[in-house]
Amino acid sequence: MTNLTGLVSLTALTSSPDPQAAYDALRARWGAVAPVEIEAGVPGWLVMGHQESCHVMRSEAAFAKDPRTWRWNYEDLLPPGTAIATFAPADPRPSSFHHDGEERRRLRKPLDDALEALDERTVRDNITTLCISIIDRMGPSGTTDLVRAFCQPMGFLAMTTLLGFDLETGAQLMTDSAKVVVGDGDEVAAAQARVAGTILQHIQQRREDGGQDLISFLAVHQNFAHDGEIASTAVVPMHAAAIFLTAWITQTLHLRLSDQRLASRVNGGRVGLDDALDEVLWRQSPIAQSPALRFARNDVELGGRLIAKGDALVLSIAAANGDPAVHTSDPWDEVGNRAHLSWGTGPHSCPAPRQARLIARIAVDQLLRHMDVQLHVPEEGLPWAHSPWVRHPERMPVTYRRATAYGDVNA
Ligand code: HEM
Repeated sequence: MTNLTGLVSLTALTSSPDPQAAYDALRARWGAVAPVEIEAGVPGWLVMGHQESCHVMRSEAAFAKDPRTWRWNYEDLLPPGTAIATFAPADPRPSSFHHDGEERRRLRKPLDDALEALDERTVRDNITTLCISIIDRMGPSGTTDLVRAFCQPMGFLAMTTLLGFDLETGAQLMTDSAKVVVGDGDEVAAAQARVAGTILQHIQQRREDGGQDLISFLAVHQNFAHDGEIASTAVVPMHAAAIFLTAWITQTLHLRLSDQRLASRVNGGRVGLDDALDEVLWRQSPIAQSPALRFARNDVELGGRLIAKGDALVLSIAAANGDPAVHTSDPWDEVGNRAHLSWGTGPHSCPAPRQARLIARIAVDQLLRHMDVQLHVPEEGLPWAHSPWVRHPERMPVTYRRATAYGDVNA
């Protein structure tokens, strides 16, 4: 699991067959805070203790979100093409994600207000319609990879739906977004330009026509100085939240389809879908490590380690949730326990846990209502997504058949 520098890489932790054992091994060697490699050649500190994580997340004065505070940015050390530059660029984007203090407050309030203004009944109807259209596209029966056929489009298109894009534009944004991640050279630049153009055009259109979606509310918010700030505010949910939603939906379906004990308890009515969703938030957090790095403003001691001014810290949500200080060994004792950090805490905590739950709940519920799904777990087990940030099976091979009670849409 360690590389040439002797440091553990985040991806190795996230995609390990047993991440909690890997965090335990790191804890045994280093304590609550361990040196790691964020990606090849880029070092950072992994914060694994629950208490230390809360302290870092809540202390804007000691730990900045502004990426200009990162030594690797101000000393120009990051190799070109480094993936982490997307989350911590040398020039911060004009959104709360990259700012602290008063500027964070100015840029965060519009999103909080817009989420508050969303009518949840409308959101529920729109997301249900989206979900049924994805299920319909799967056809009456067959074999498929459930992650690609259902969980990923659900995660991404739910976000574009919240932002007010129609399905066709959402699908184009999803294609371009994938090119931004895996494409190369000109293709990436062209896809980025299309995404930016589509969002800016949508903002202007919504400002003129009005609507009941996030962009419509953001487009007229007085806190914004220009449309670039609105676009940056929309981009974080569109890219980052979409992958967390995909992970939450995938992990809950995985648990639901593979854990017979849970399946019989759900079917017997003793455990609700929300309990299964909570179980995942605790045990298999959709966000294993937060890509929202923090940077030490000054030399500081944390968990027994000396963190130097300008160093980067990565918050391991999965490790903090598994900290023996906050949980018991029986998963069902945890139902109702909200001390997990899957939504973060402090000034940068997730503004949208309600909306995220609504989306994940509808996705899992509708799929299992409309389809009889059987998981085919290969003998060597399911491969885990190769990511420093999210943990979920890379693929979930299933056979499925339209549930007879709901009929065959294509018949
Ligand atoms: C399963 C779904 C989701 C999970 C697990 C999740 C988790 C998180 C966490 C842990 C943070 C804090 C990161 C940190 O402090 O290091 C965060 C921040 C954020 N989340 Fe979510 N989130 C989810 C869905 C959403 C959705 C649906 C939206 C938008 C509609 C959203 C928008 C944001 C934004 C904008 C931030 C940054 C806030 C700031 O820096 O001021 N998230 N999320």
